[in-house]
Amino acid sequence: MSTTQLETVSSTFLQDVKEGLSKPQKELPSKYFYDERGSELFEKICTLDEYYLTRAELDLMETHIKEICSAIGRKTLLAELGSGSSRKTRLLLEHLDEIEAYIPVDISADFLNSTAQSLREEFPDLTVHPVAADYTRPFPLPFRDGAERTVLYFPGSTIGNFTQERASRFLGRMAGLLEPGDGFLIGADRVKDTGVLEAAYNDKEGVTAQFNLNLLRRINGELDADFDLNQFKHHAFFNVEKSLIEMHLVSRTDQSVNIAGSTYHFQEGETIHTENSHKYSREHFGGLVEGLFIIEKEWRDRNNLFSLFYLSPLKE
Ligand code: AVJ
Repeated sequence: MSTTQLETVSSTFLQDVKEGLSKPQKELPSKYFYDERGSELFEKICTLDEYYLTRAELDLMETHIKEICSAIGRKTLLAELGSGSSRKTRLLLEHLDEIEAYIPVDISADFLNSTAQSLREEFPDLTVHPVAADYTRPFPLPFRDGAERTVLYFPGSTIGNFTQERASRFLGRMAGLLEPGDGFLIGADRVKDTGVLEAAYNDKEGVTAQFNLNLLRRINGELDADFDLNQFKHHAFFNVEKSLIEMHLVSRTDQSVNIAGSTYHFQEGETIHTENSHKYSREHFGGLVEGLFIIEKEWRDRNNLFSLFYLSPLKE
């Protein structure tokens, strides 16, 4: 990354942090969880007994791989939003027949290039076209050339982290990128028993707590701040009305924290809201995509924990 890029990146980070901590209910954007350590911790979360999401999504893909691949079709440009290094992607690539190109879209150019490199080694016949972009903002897809269609792939229930408003805007933009005959393959975690949901975000080993607290460690390291990580604790609960898991960091005492020259006060018990993770029913998800997409297919794992939807864009 060039110096200018680095400066732009961290000044937005600083602005977002200052803005979020100045609100009456303090908050920090969950997208900042994923620095190197955060990404490692998230990988570890995916292997935890309590965190059923990753296992359920893999299970549904293995169970329905034939149908999923036939929905994706032939001569397709498959564009994955975020990551591209996961087992889910490999599973698709192993089973797809005659795919035109695989297009990982990710904000981290380094990560993209290493992903592209290893996929090219593993799948020598595959054309890989990485696109370095923040997919939550407008971005272009490569020209279709010989491809017959484009299918967007957005696994992992990442949509669940967006507010309803941002999710709608994002879905609208994705519908705008697509043409009739194209598709959107999107994962969504299902609403379920509160005990199961809360356990998934409060694992016994405390990895999710470390993941949450890592945000403060990152702010200290990158933004000249002095959060005392021992003075905050992880708290996650299911908000039934809103059908989402809320993650917070709770101040253990009255304290002040300095961030790049400004001071922020925390009362004992006051929280920083760090993440929302929406849990969907079929109706709820249908409402979210209404007017933009038609739900063509829904696949679930054997325990009905997680859904993968195949959507087609509605014509104007
Ligand atoms: C990556 C957004 C799917 O919401 O479950 C895991 C992130 N947060 N544990 C989720 C997360 C706490 C995760 N997603």
